[in-house]
Parts: sequence; C-alpha cells; structure tokens
Amino acid sequence: MKCKVCQAQAVVALKSHNTAFCAACYKKYFARQVERGIDEQRLFTRNDKILVALSGGKDSLALMLELSRQGYNVTGLHIDLGIPGSSAAARGVTERFCAKHGFALHIKEMAAEGLPIPLVRQRLHRPVCSVCGKIKRHYFNRITLEEGFDVLATGHNLDDEVARLFSNTLRWDADYLSDQGPMLPVAPGFSRKVKPLWRLTEFETANYAFLSGIETHYALCPYSPGASFTVLKGLLQRLETAMPGRKISFYQGFLARGKPAFARQSAKESTLAPCPQCGFLTSSGGDCGVCRIRAILRESGGNRDECV
Ligand code: AMP
Ligand code: FES
Ligand code: ZN
Repeated sequence: MKCKVCQAQAVVALKSHNTAFCAACYKKYFARQVERGIDEQRLFTRNDKILVALSGGKDSLALMLELSRQGYNVTGLHIDLGIPGSSAAARGVTERFCAKHGFALHIKEMAAEGLPIPLVRQRLHRPVCSVCGKIKRHYFNRITLEEGFDVLATGHNLDDEVARLFSNTLRWDADYLSDQGPMLPVAPGFSRKVKPLWRLTEFETANYAFLSGIETHYALCPYSPGASFTVLKGLLQRLETAMPGRKISFYQGFLARGKPAFARQSAKESTLAPCPQCGFLTSSGGDCGVCRIRAILRESGGNRDECV
C-alpha cells in the first residue's frame, strides 16, 4: 500500500478516513487532527500555561510531545498512586520521557498525602477505581489552580469519549450528558479541563507513540485488570468496522446537537462551600470527599472498614 500523500511505502492504514500514510505523513496527519481538535473547541491558546496529566500511558505521553512540537507551553503532572510494582513502573516511564525531552514534571505522591491507593482499596467499601479517579481529579484540579496553570489537559481519546458517551446515553444521565465533552470550562474553584485528543482513536494515538519512539507503560492497573468500558469499546469497534467513521460522527453530532439540549434540561444549582480541611470547593456540606477518605484511612489505622 502507498502513502496517499507522497506515494512512499505506507505504514499506517486508516479505514475510517479511507486512507494510508508513510511515517512522516502520518505524524503530520496526527498533528493536524490535534490542531483541529484544539481550534474547533477553542481548548486553549499558545499564551496558556498547560498542565498535562501524564499517566505513563501512550495517550498522555503522545499528547505532551505533540503539544510541545506545536509550540504550546506544557508542563507534566504525574500522580504516583503508590501501587506496588505498577506505580513505580509508570512513574519511571514518565520521568524518563520528561527527562529525554526536557519537560518540567510535577510529581504528587499519594502515600505522602495520606492516600496510598492500596490502603484506600483495603479500607473503603467502594470500587477502588471510582475512588482512585475521584482522588486523581481532586489533585489535577488542585495543582492546576495552586501552581497557576490556566488549563489541565488529559490524554482521553475518541474511543474513551465515545464509550463514555454511549454509557451515559444508555442511562440517559442528563447531568453527565450535559457536562461531557472535550472542554469543561473554568468555574469558581475549578480549573478548565480539556481533552485535545478527542478526534483521535486509541489506534491512531498508539501509532503516533510508536512512530515517535515513545516508551510507554503498558501494564494494566492490577486493581482494575481490563481497561475502562471494555464491553462498550468492543461493541463500538464492531460498529466502526461495519460503518467506518461512525464513532467520530456520533460524537460530533452529540457536541453539536445533543449536549446543548441536555445542558438546558439539567441547569442544576448546587451549593458549593470550601472544605474546612483543604479549602477546595465541595457540595458535600462539610469536608470534601477526598478529605473524608483521608480521615478514614488515618482514623481506621486498625481494622475498621467504612463507606464514604
Ligand atoms: P485513564 O482514566 O487511566 O484512562 O486515564 C485518562 C487520562 O488521565 C490519562 O490519559 C492521563 O492524562 C490522566 N491520568 C491517569 N492516571 C494518571 C496518573 N496517575 N497521573 C497523571 N495523570 C493520569
Ligand atoms: Fe486507580 Fe487502578 S485503581 S489506576
Ligand atoms: Zn478537602
């Protein structure tokens, strides 16, 4: 197969776009899709200070590299979850990547914050992934605001977004449907959050990471073996194979027509007040969820299991 742009030997074929590229033209294609994703949704500008959440996986590292190649002002943030084996490997990959490219990197250790994830898993009667996600989002927001960044970027890709959209639609969850999208705007106490890879699939990002020589952390989390939304992603992949281009058109249709309708429906008013412990805004009426988890871990030192 030949590259559709320059006729050299193609190394990546993209069915949804009915095209194929050599390595150099593929990287240009990827860059253009990131650029379009940023421009179409007005995610940020070259004047913004961007904090990129780096898990050590292919998506976030590819995002960081591409944003820096495009001249954006990027700094990395890695949350070390303290999970034996897997966290050290993810952190090592992230540190080597940032050192190789000369990127500044903030590291936040959950053990030092009184929130090591193995202890969270042991002490709380809740699925560890949802608690871990809540803790990560809390620190993403907190560090973005405290360190004076304008925006927090994550490596969520089109497959993540479409699976989440499908899941929200299956439940007709109007609140989640009104919030979902490549950008969550800034609000009092909450930073702007963006997903610049929303136009690109997992396959496309993996190819970019491979062709750019990015070393990534492949191992799945030992506490959630199976990536999120595995079943839905499989279903959507079958749909995409039968009807190439459906994933992006479903998602873009939602952004253009679905989301505004849900936003009107769920104009929710929640009362936010600062958490007495950490000062970050919460609707809980007392300590925020993360400070309550920390207190449980501290107080239960022994055997007590609790729900938050
Ligand atoms: P996941 O929920 O694991 O699919 O991750 C989605 C995105 O969240 C990644 O692309 C990263 O941008 C970010 N992320 C996940 N885990 C971490 C972590 N431990 N440290 C920093 N960012 C993370
Ligand atoms: Fe959070 Fe596995 S429980 S990454
Ligand atoms: Zn708090």
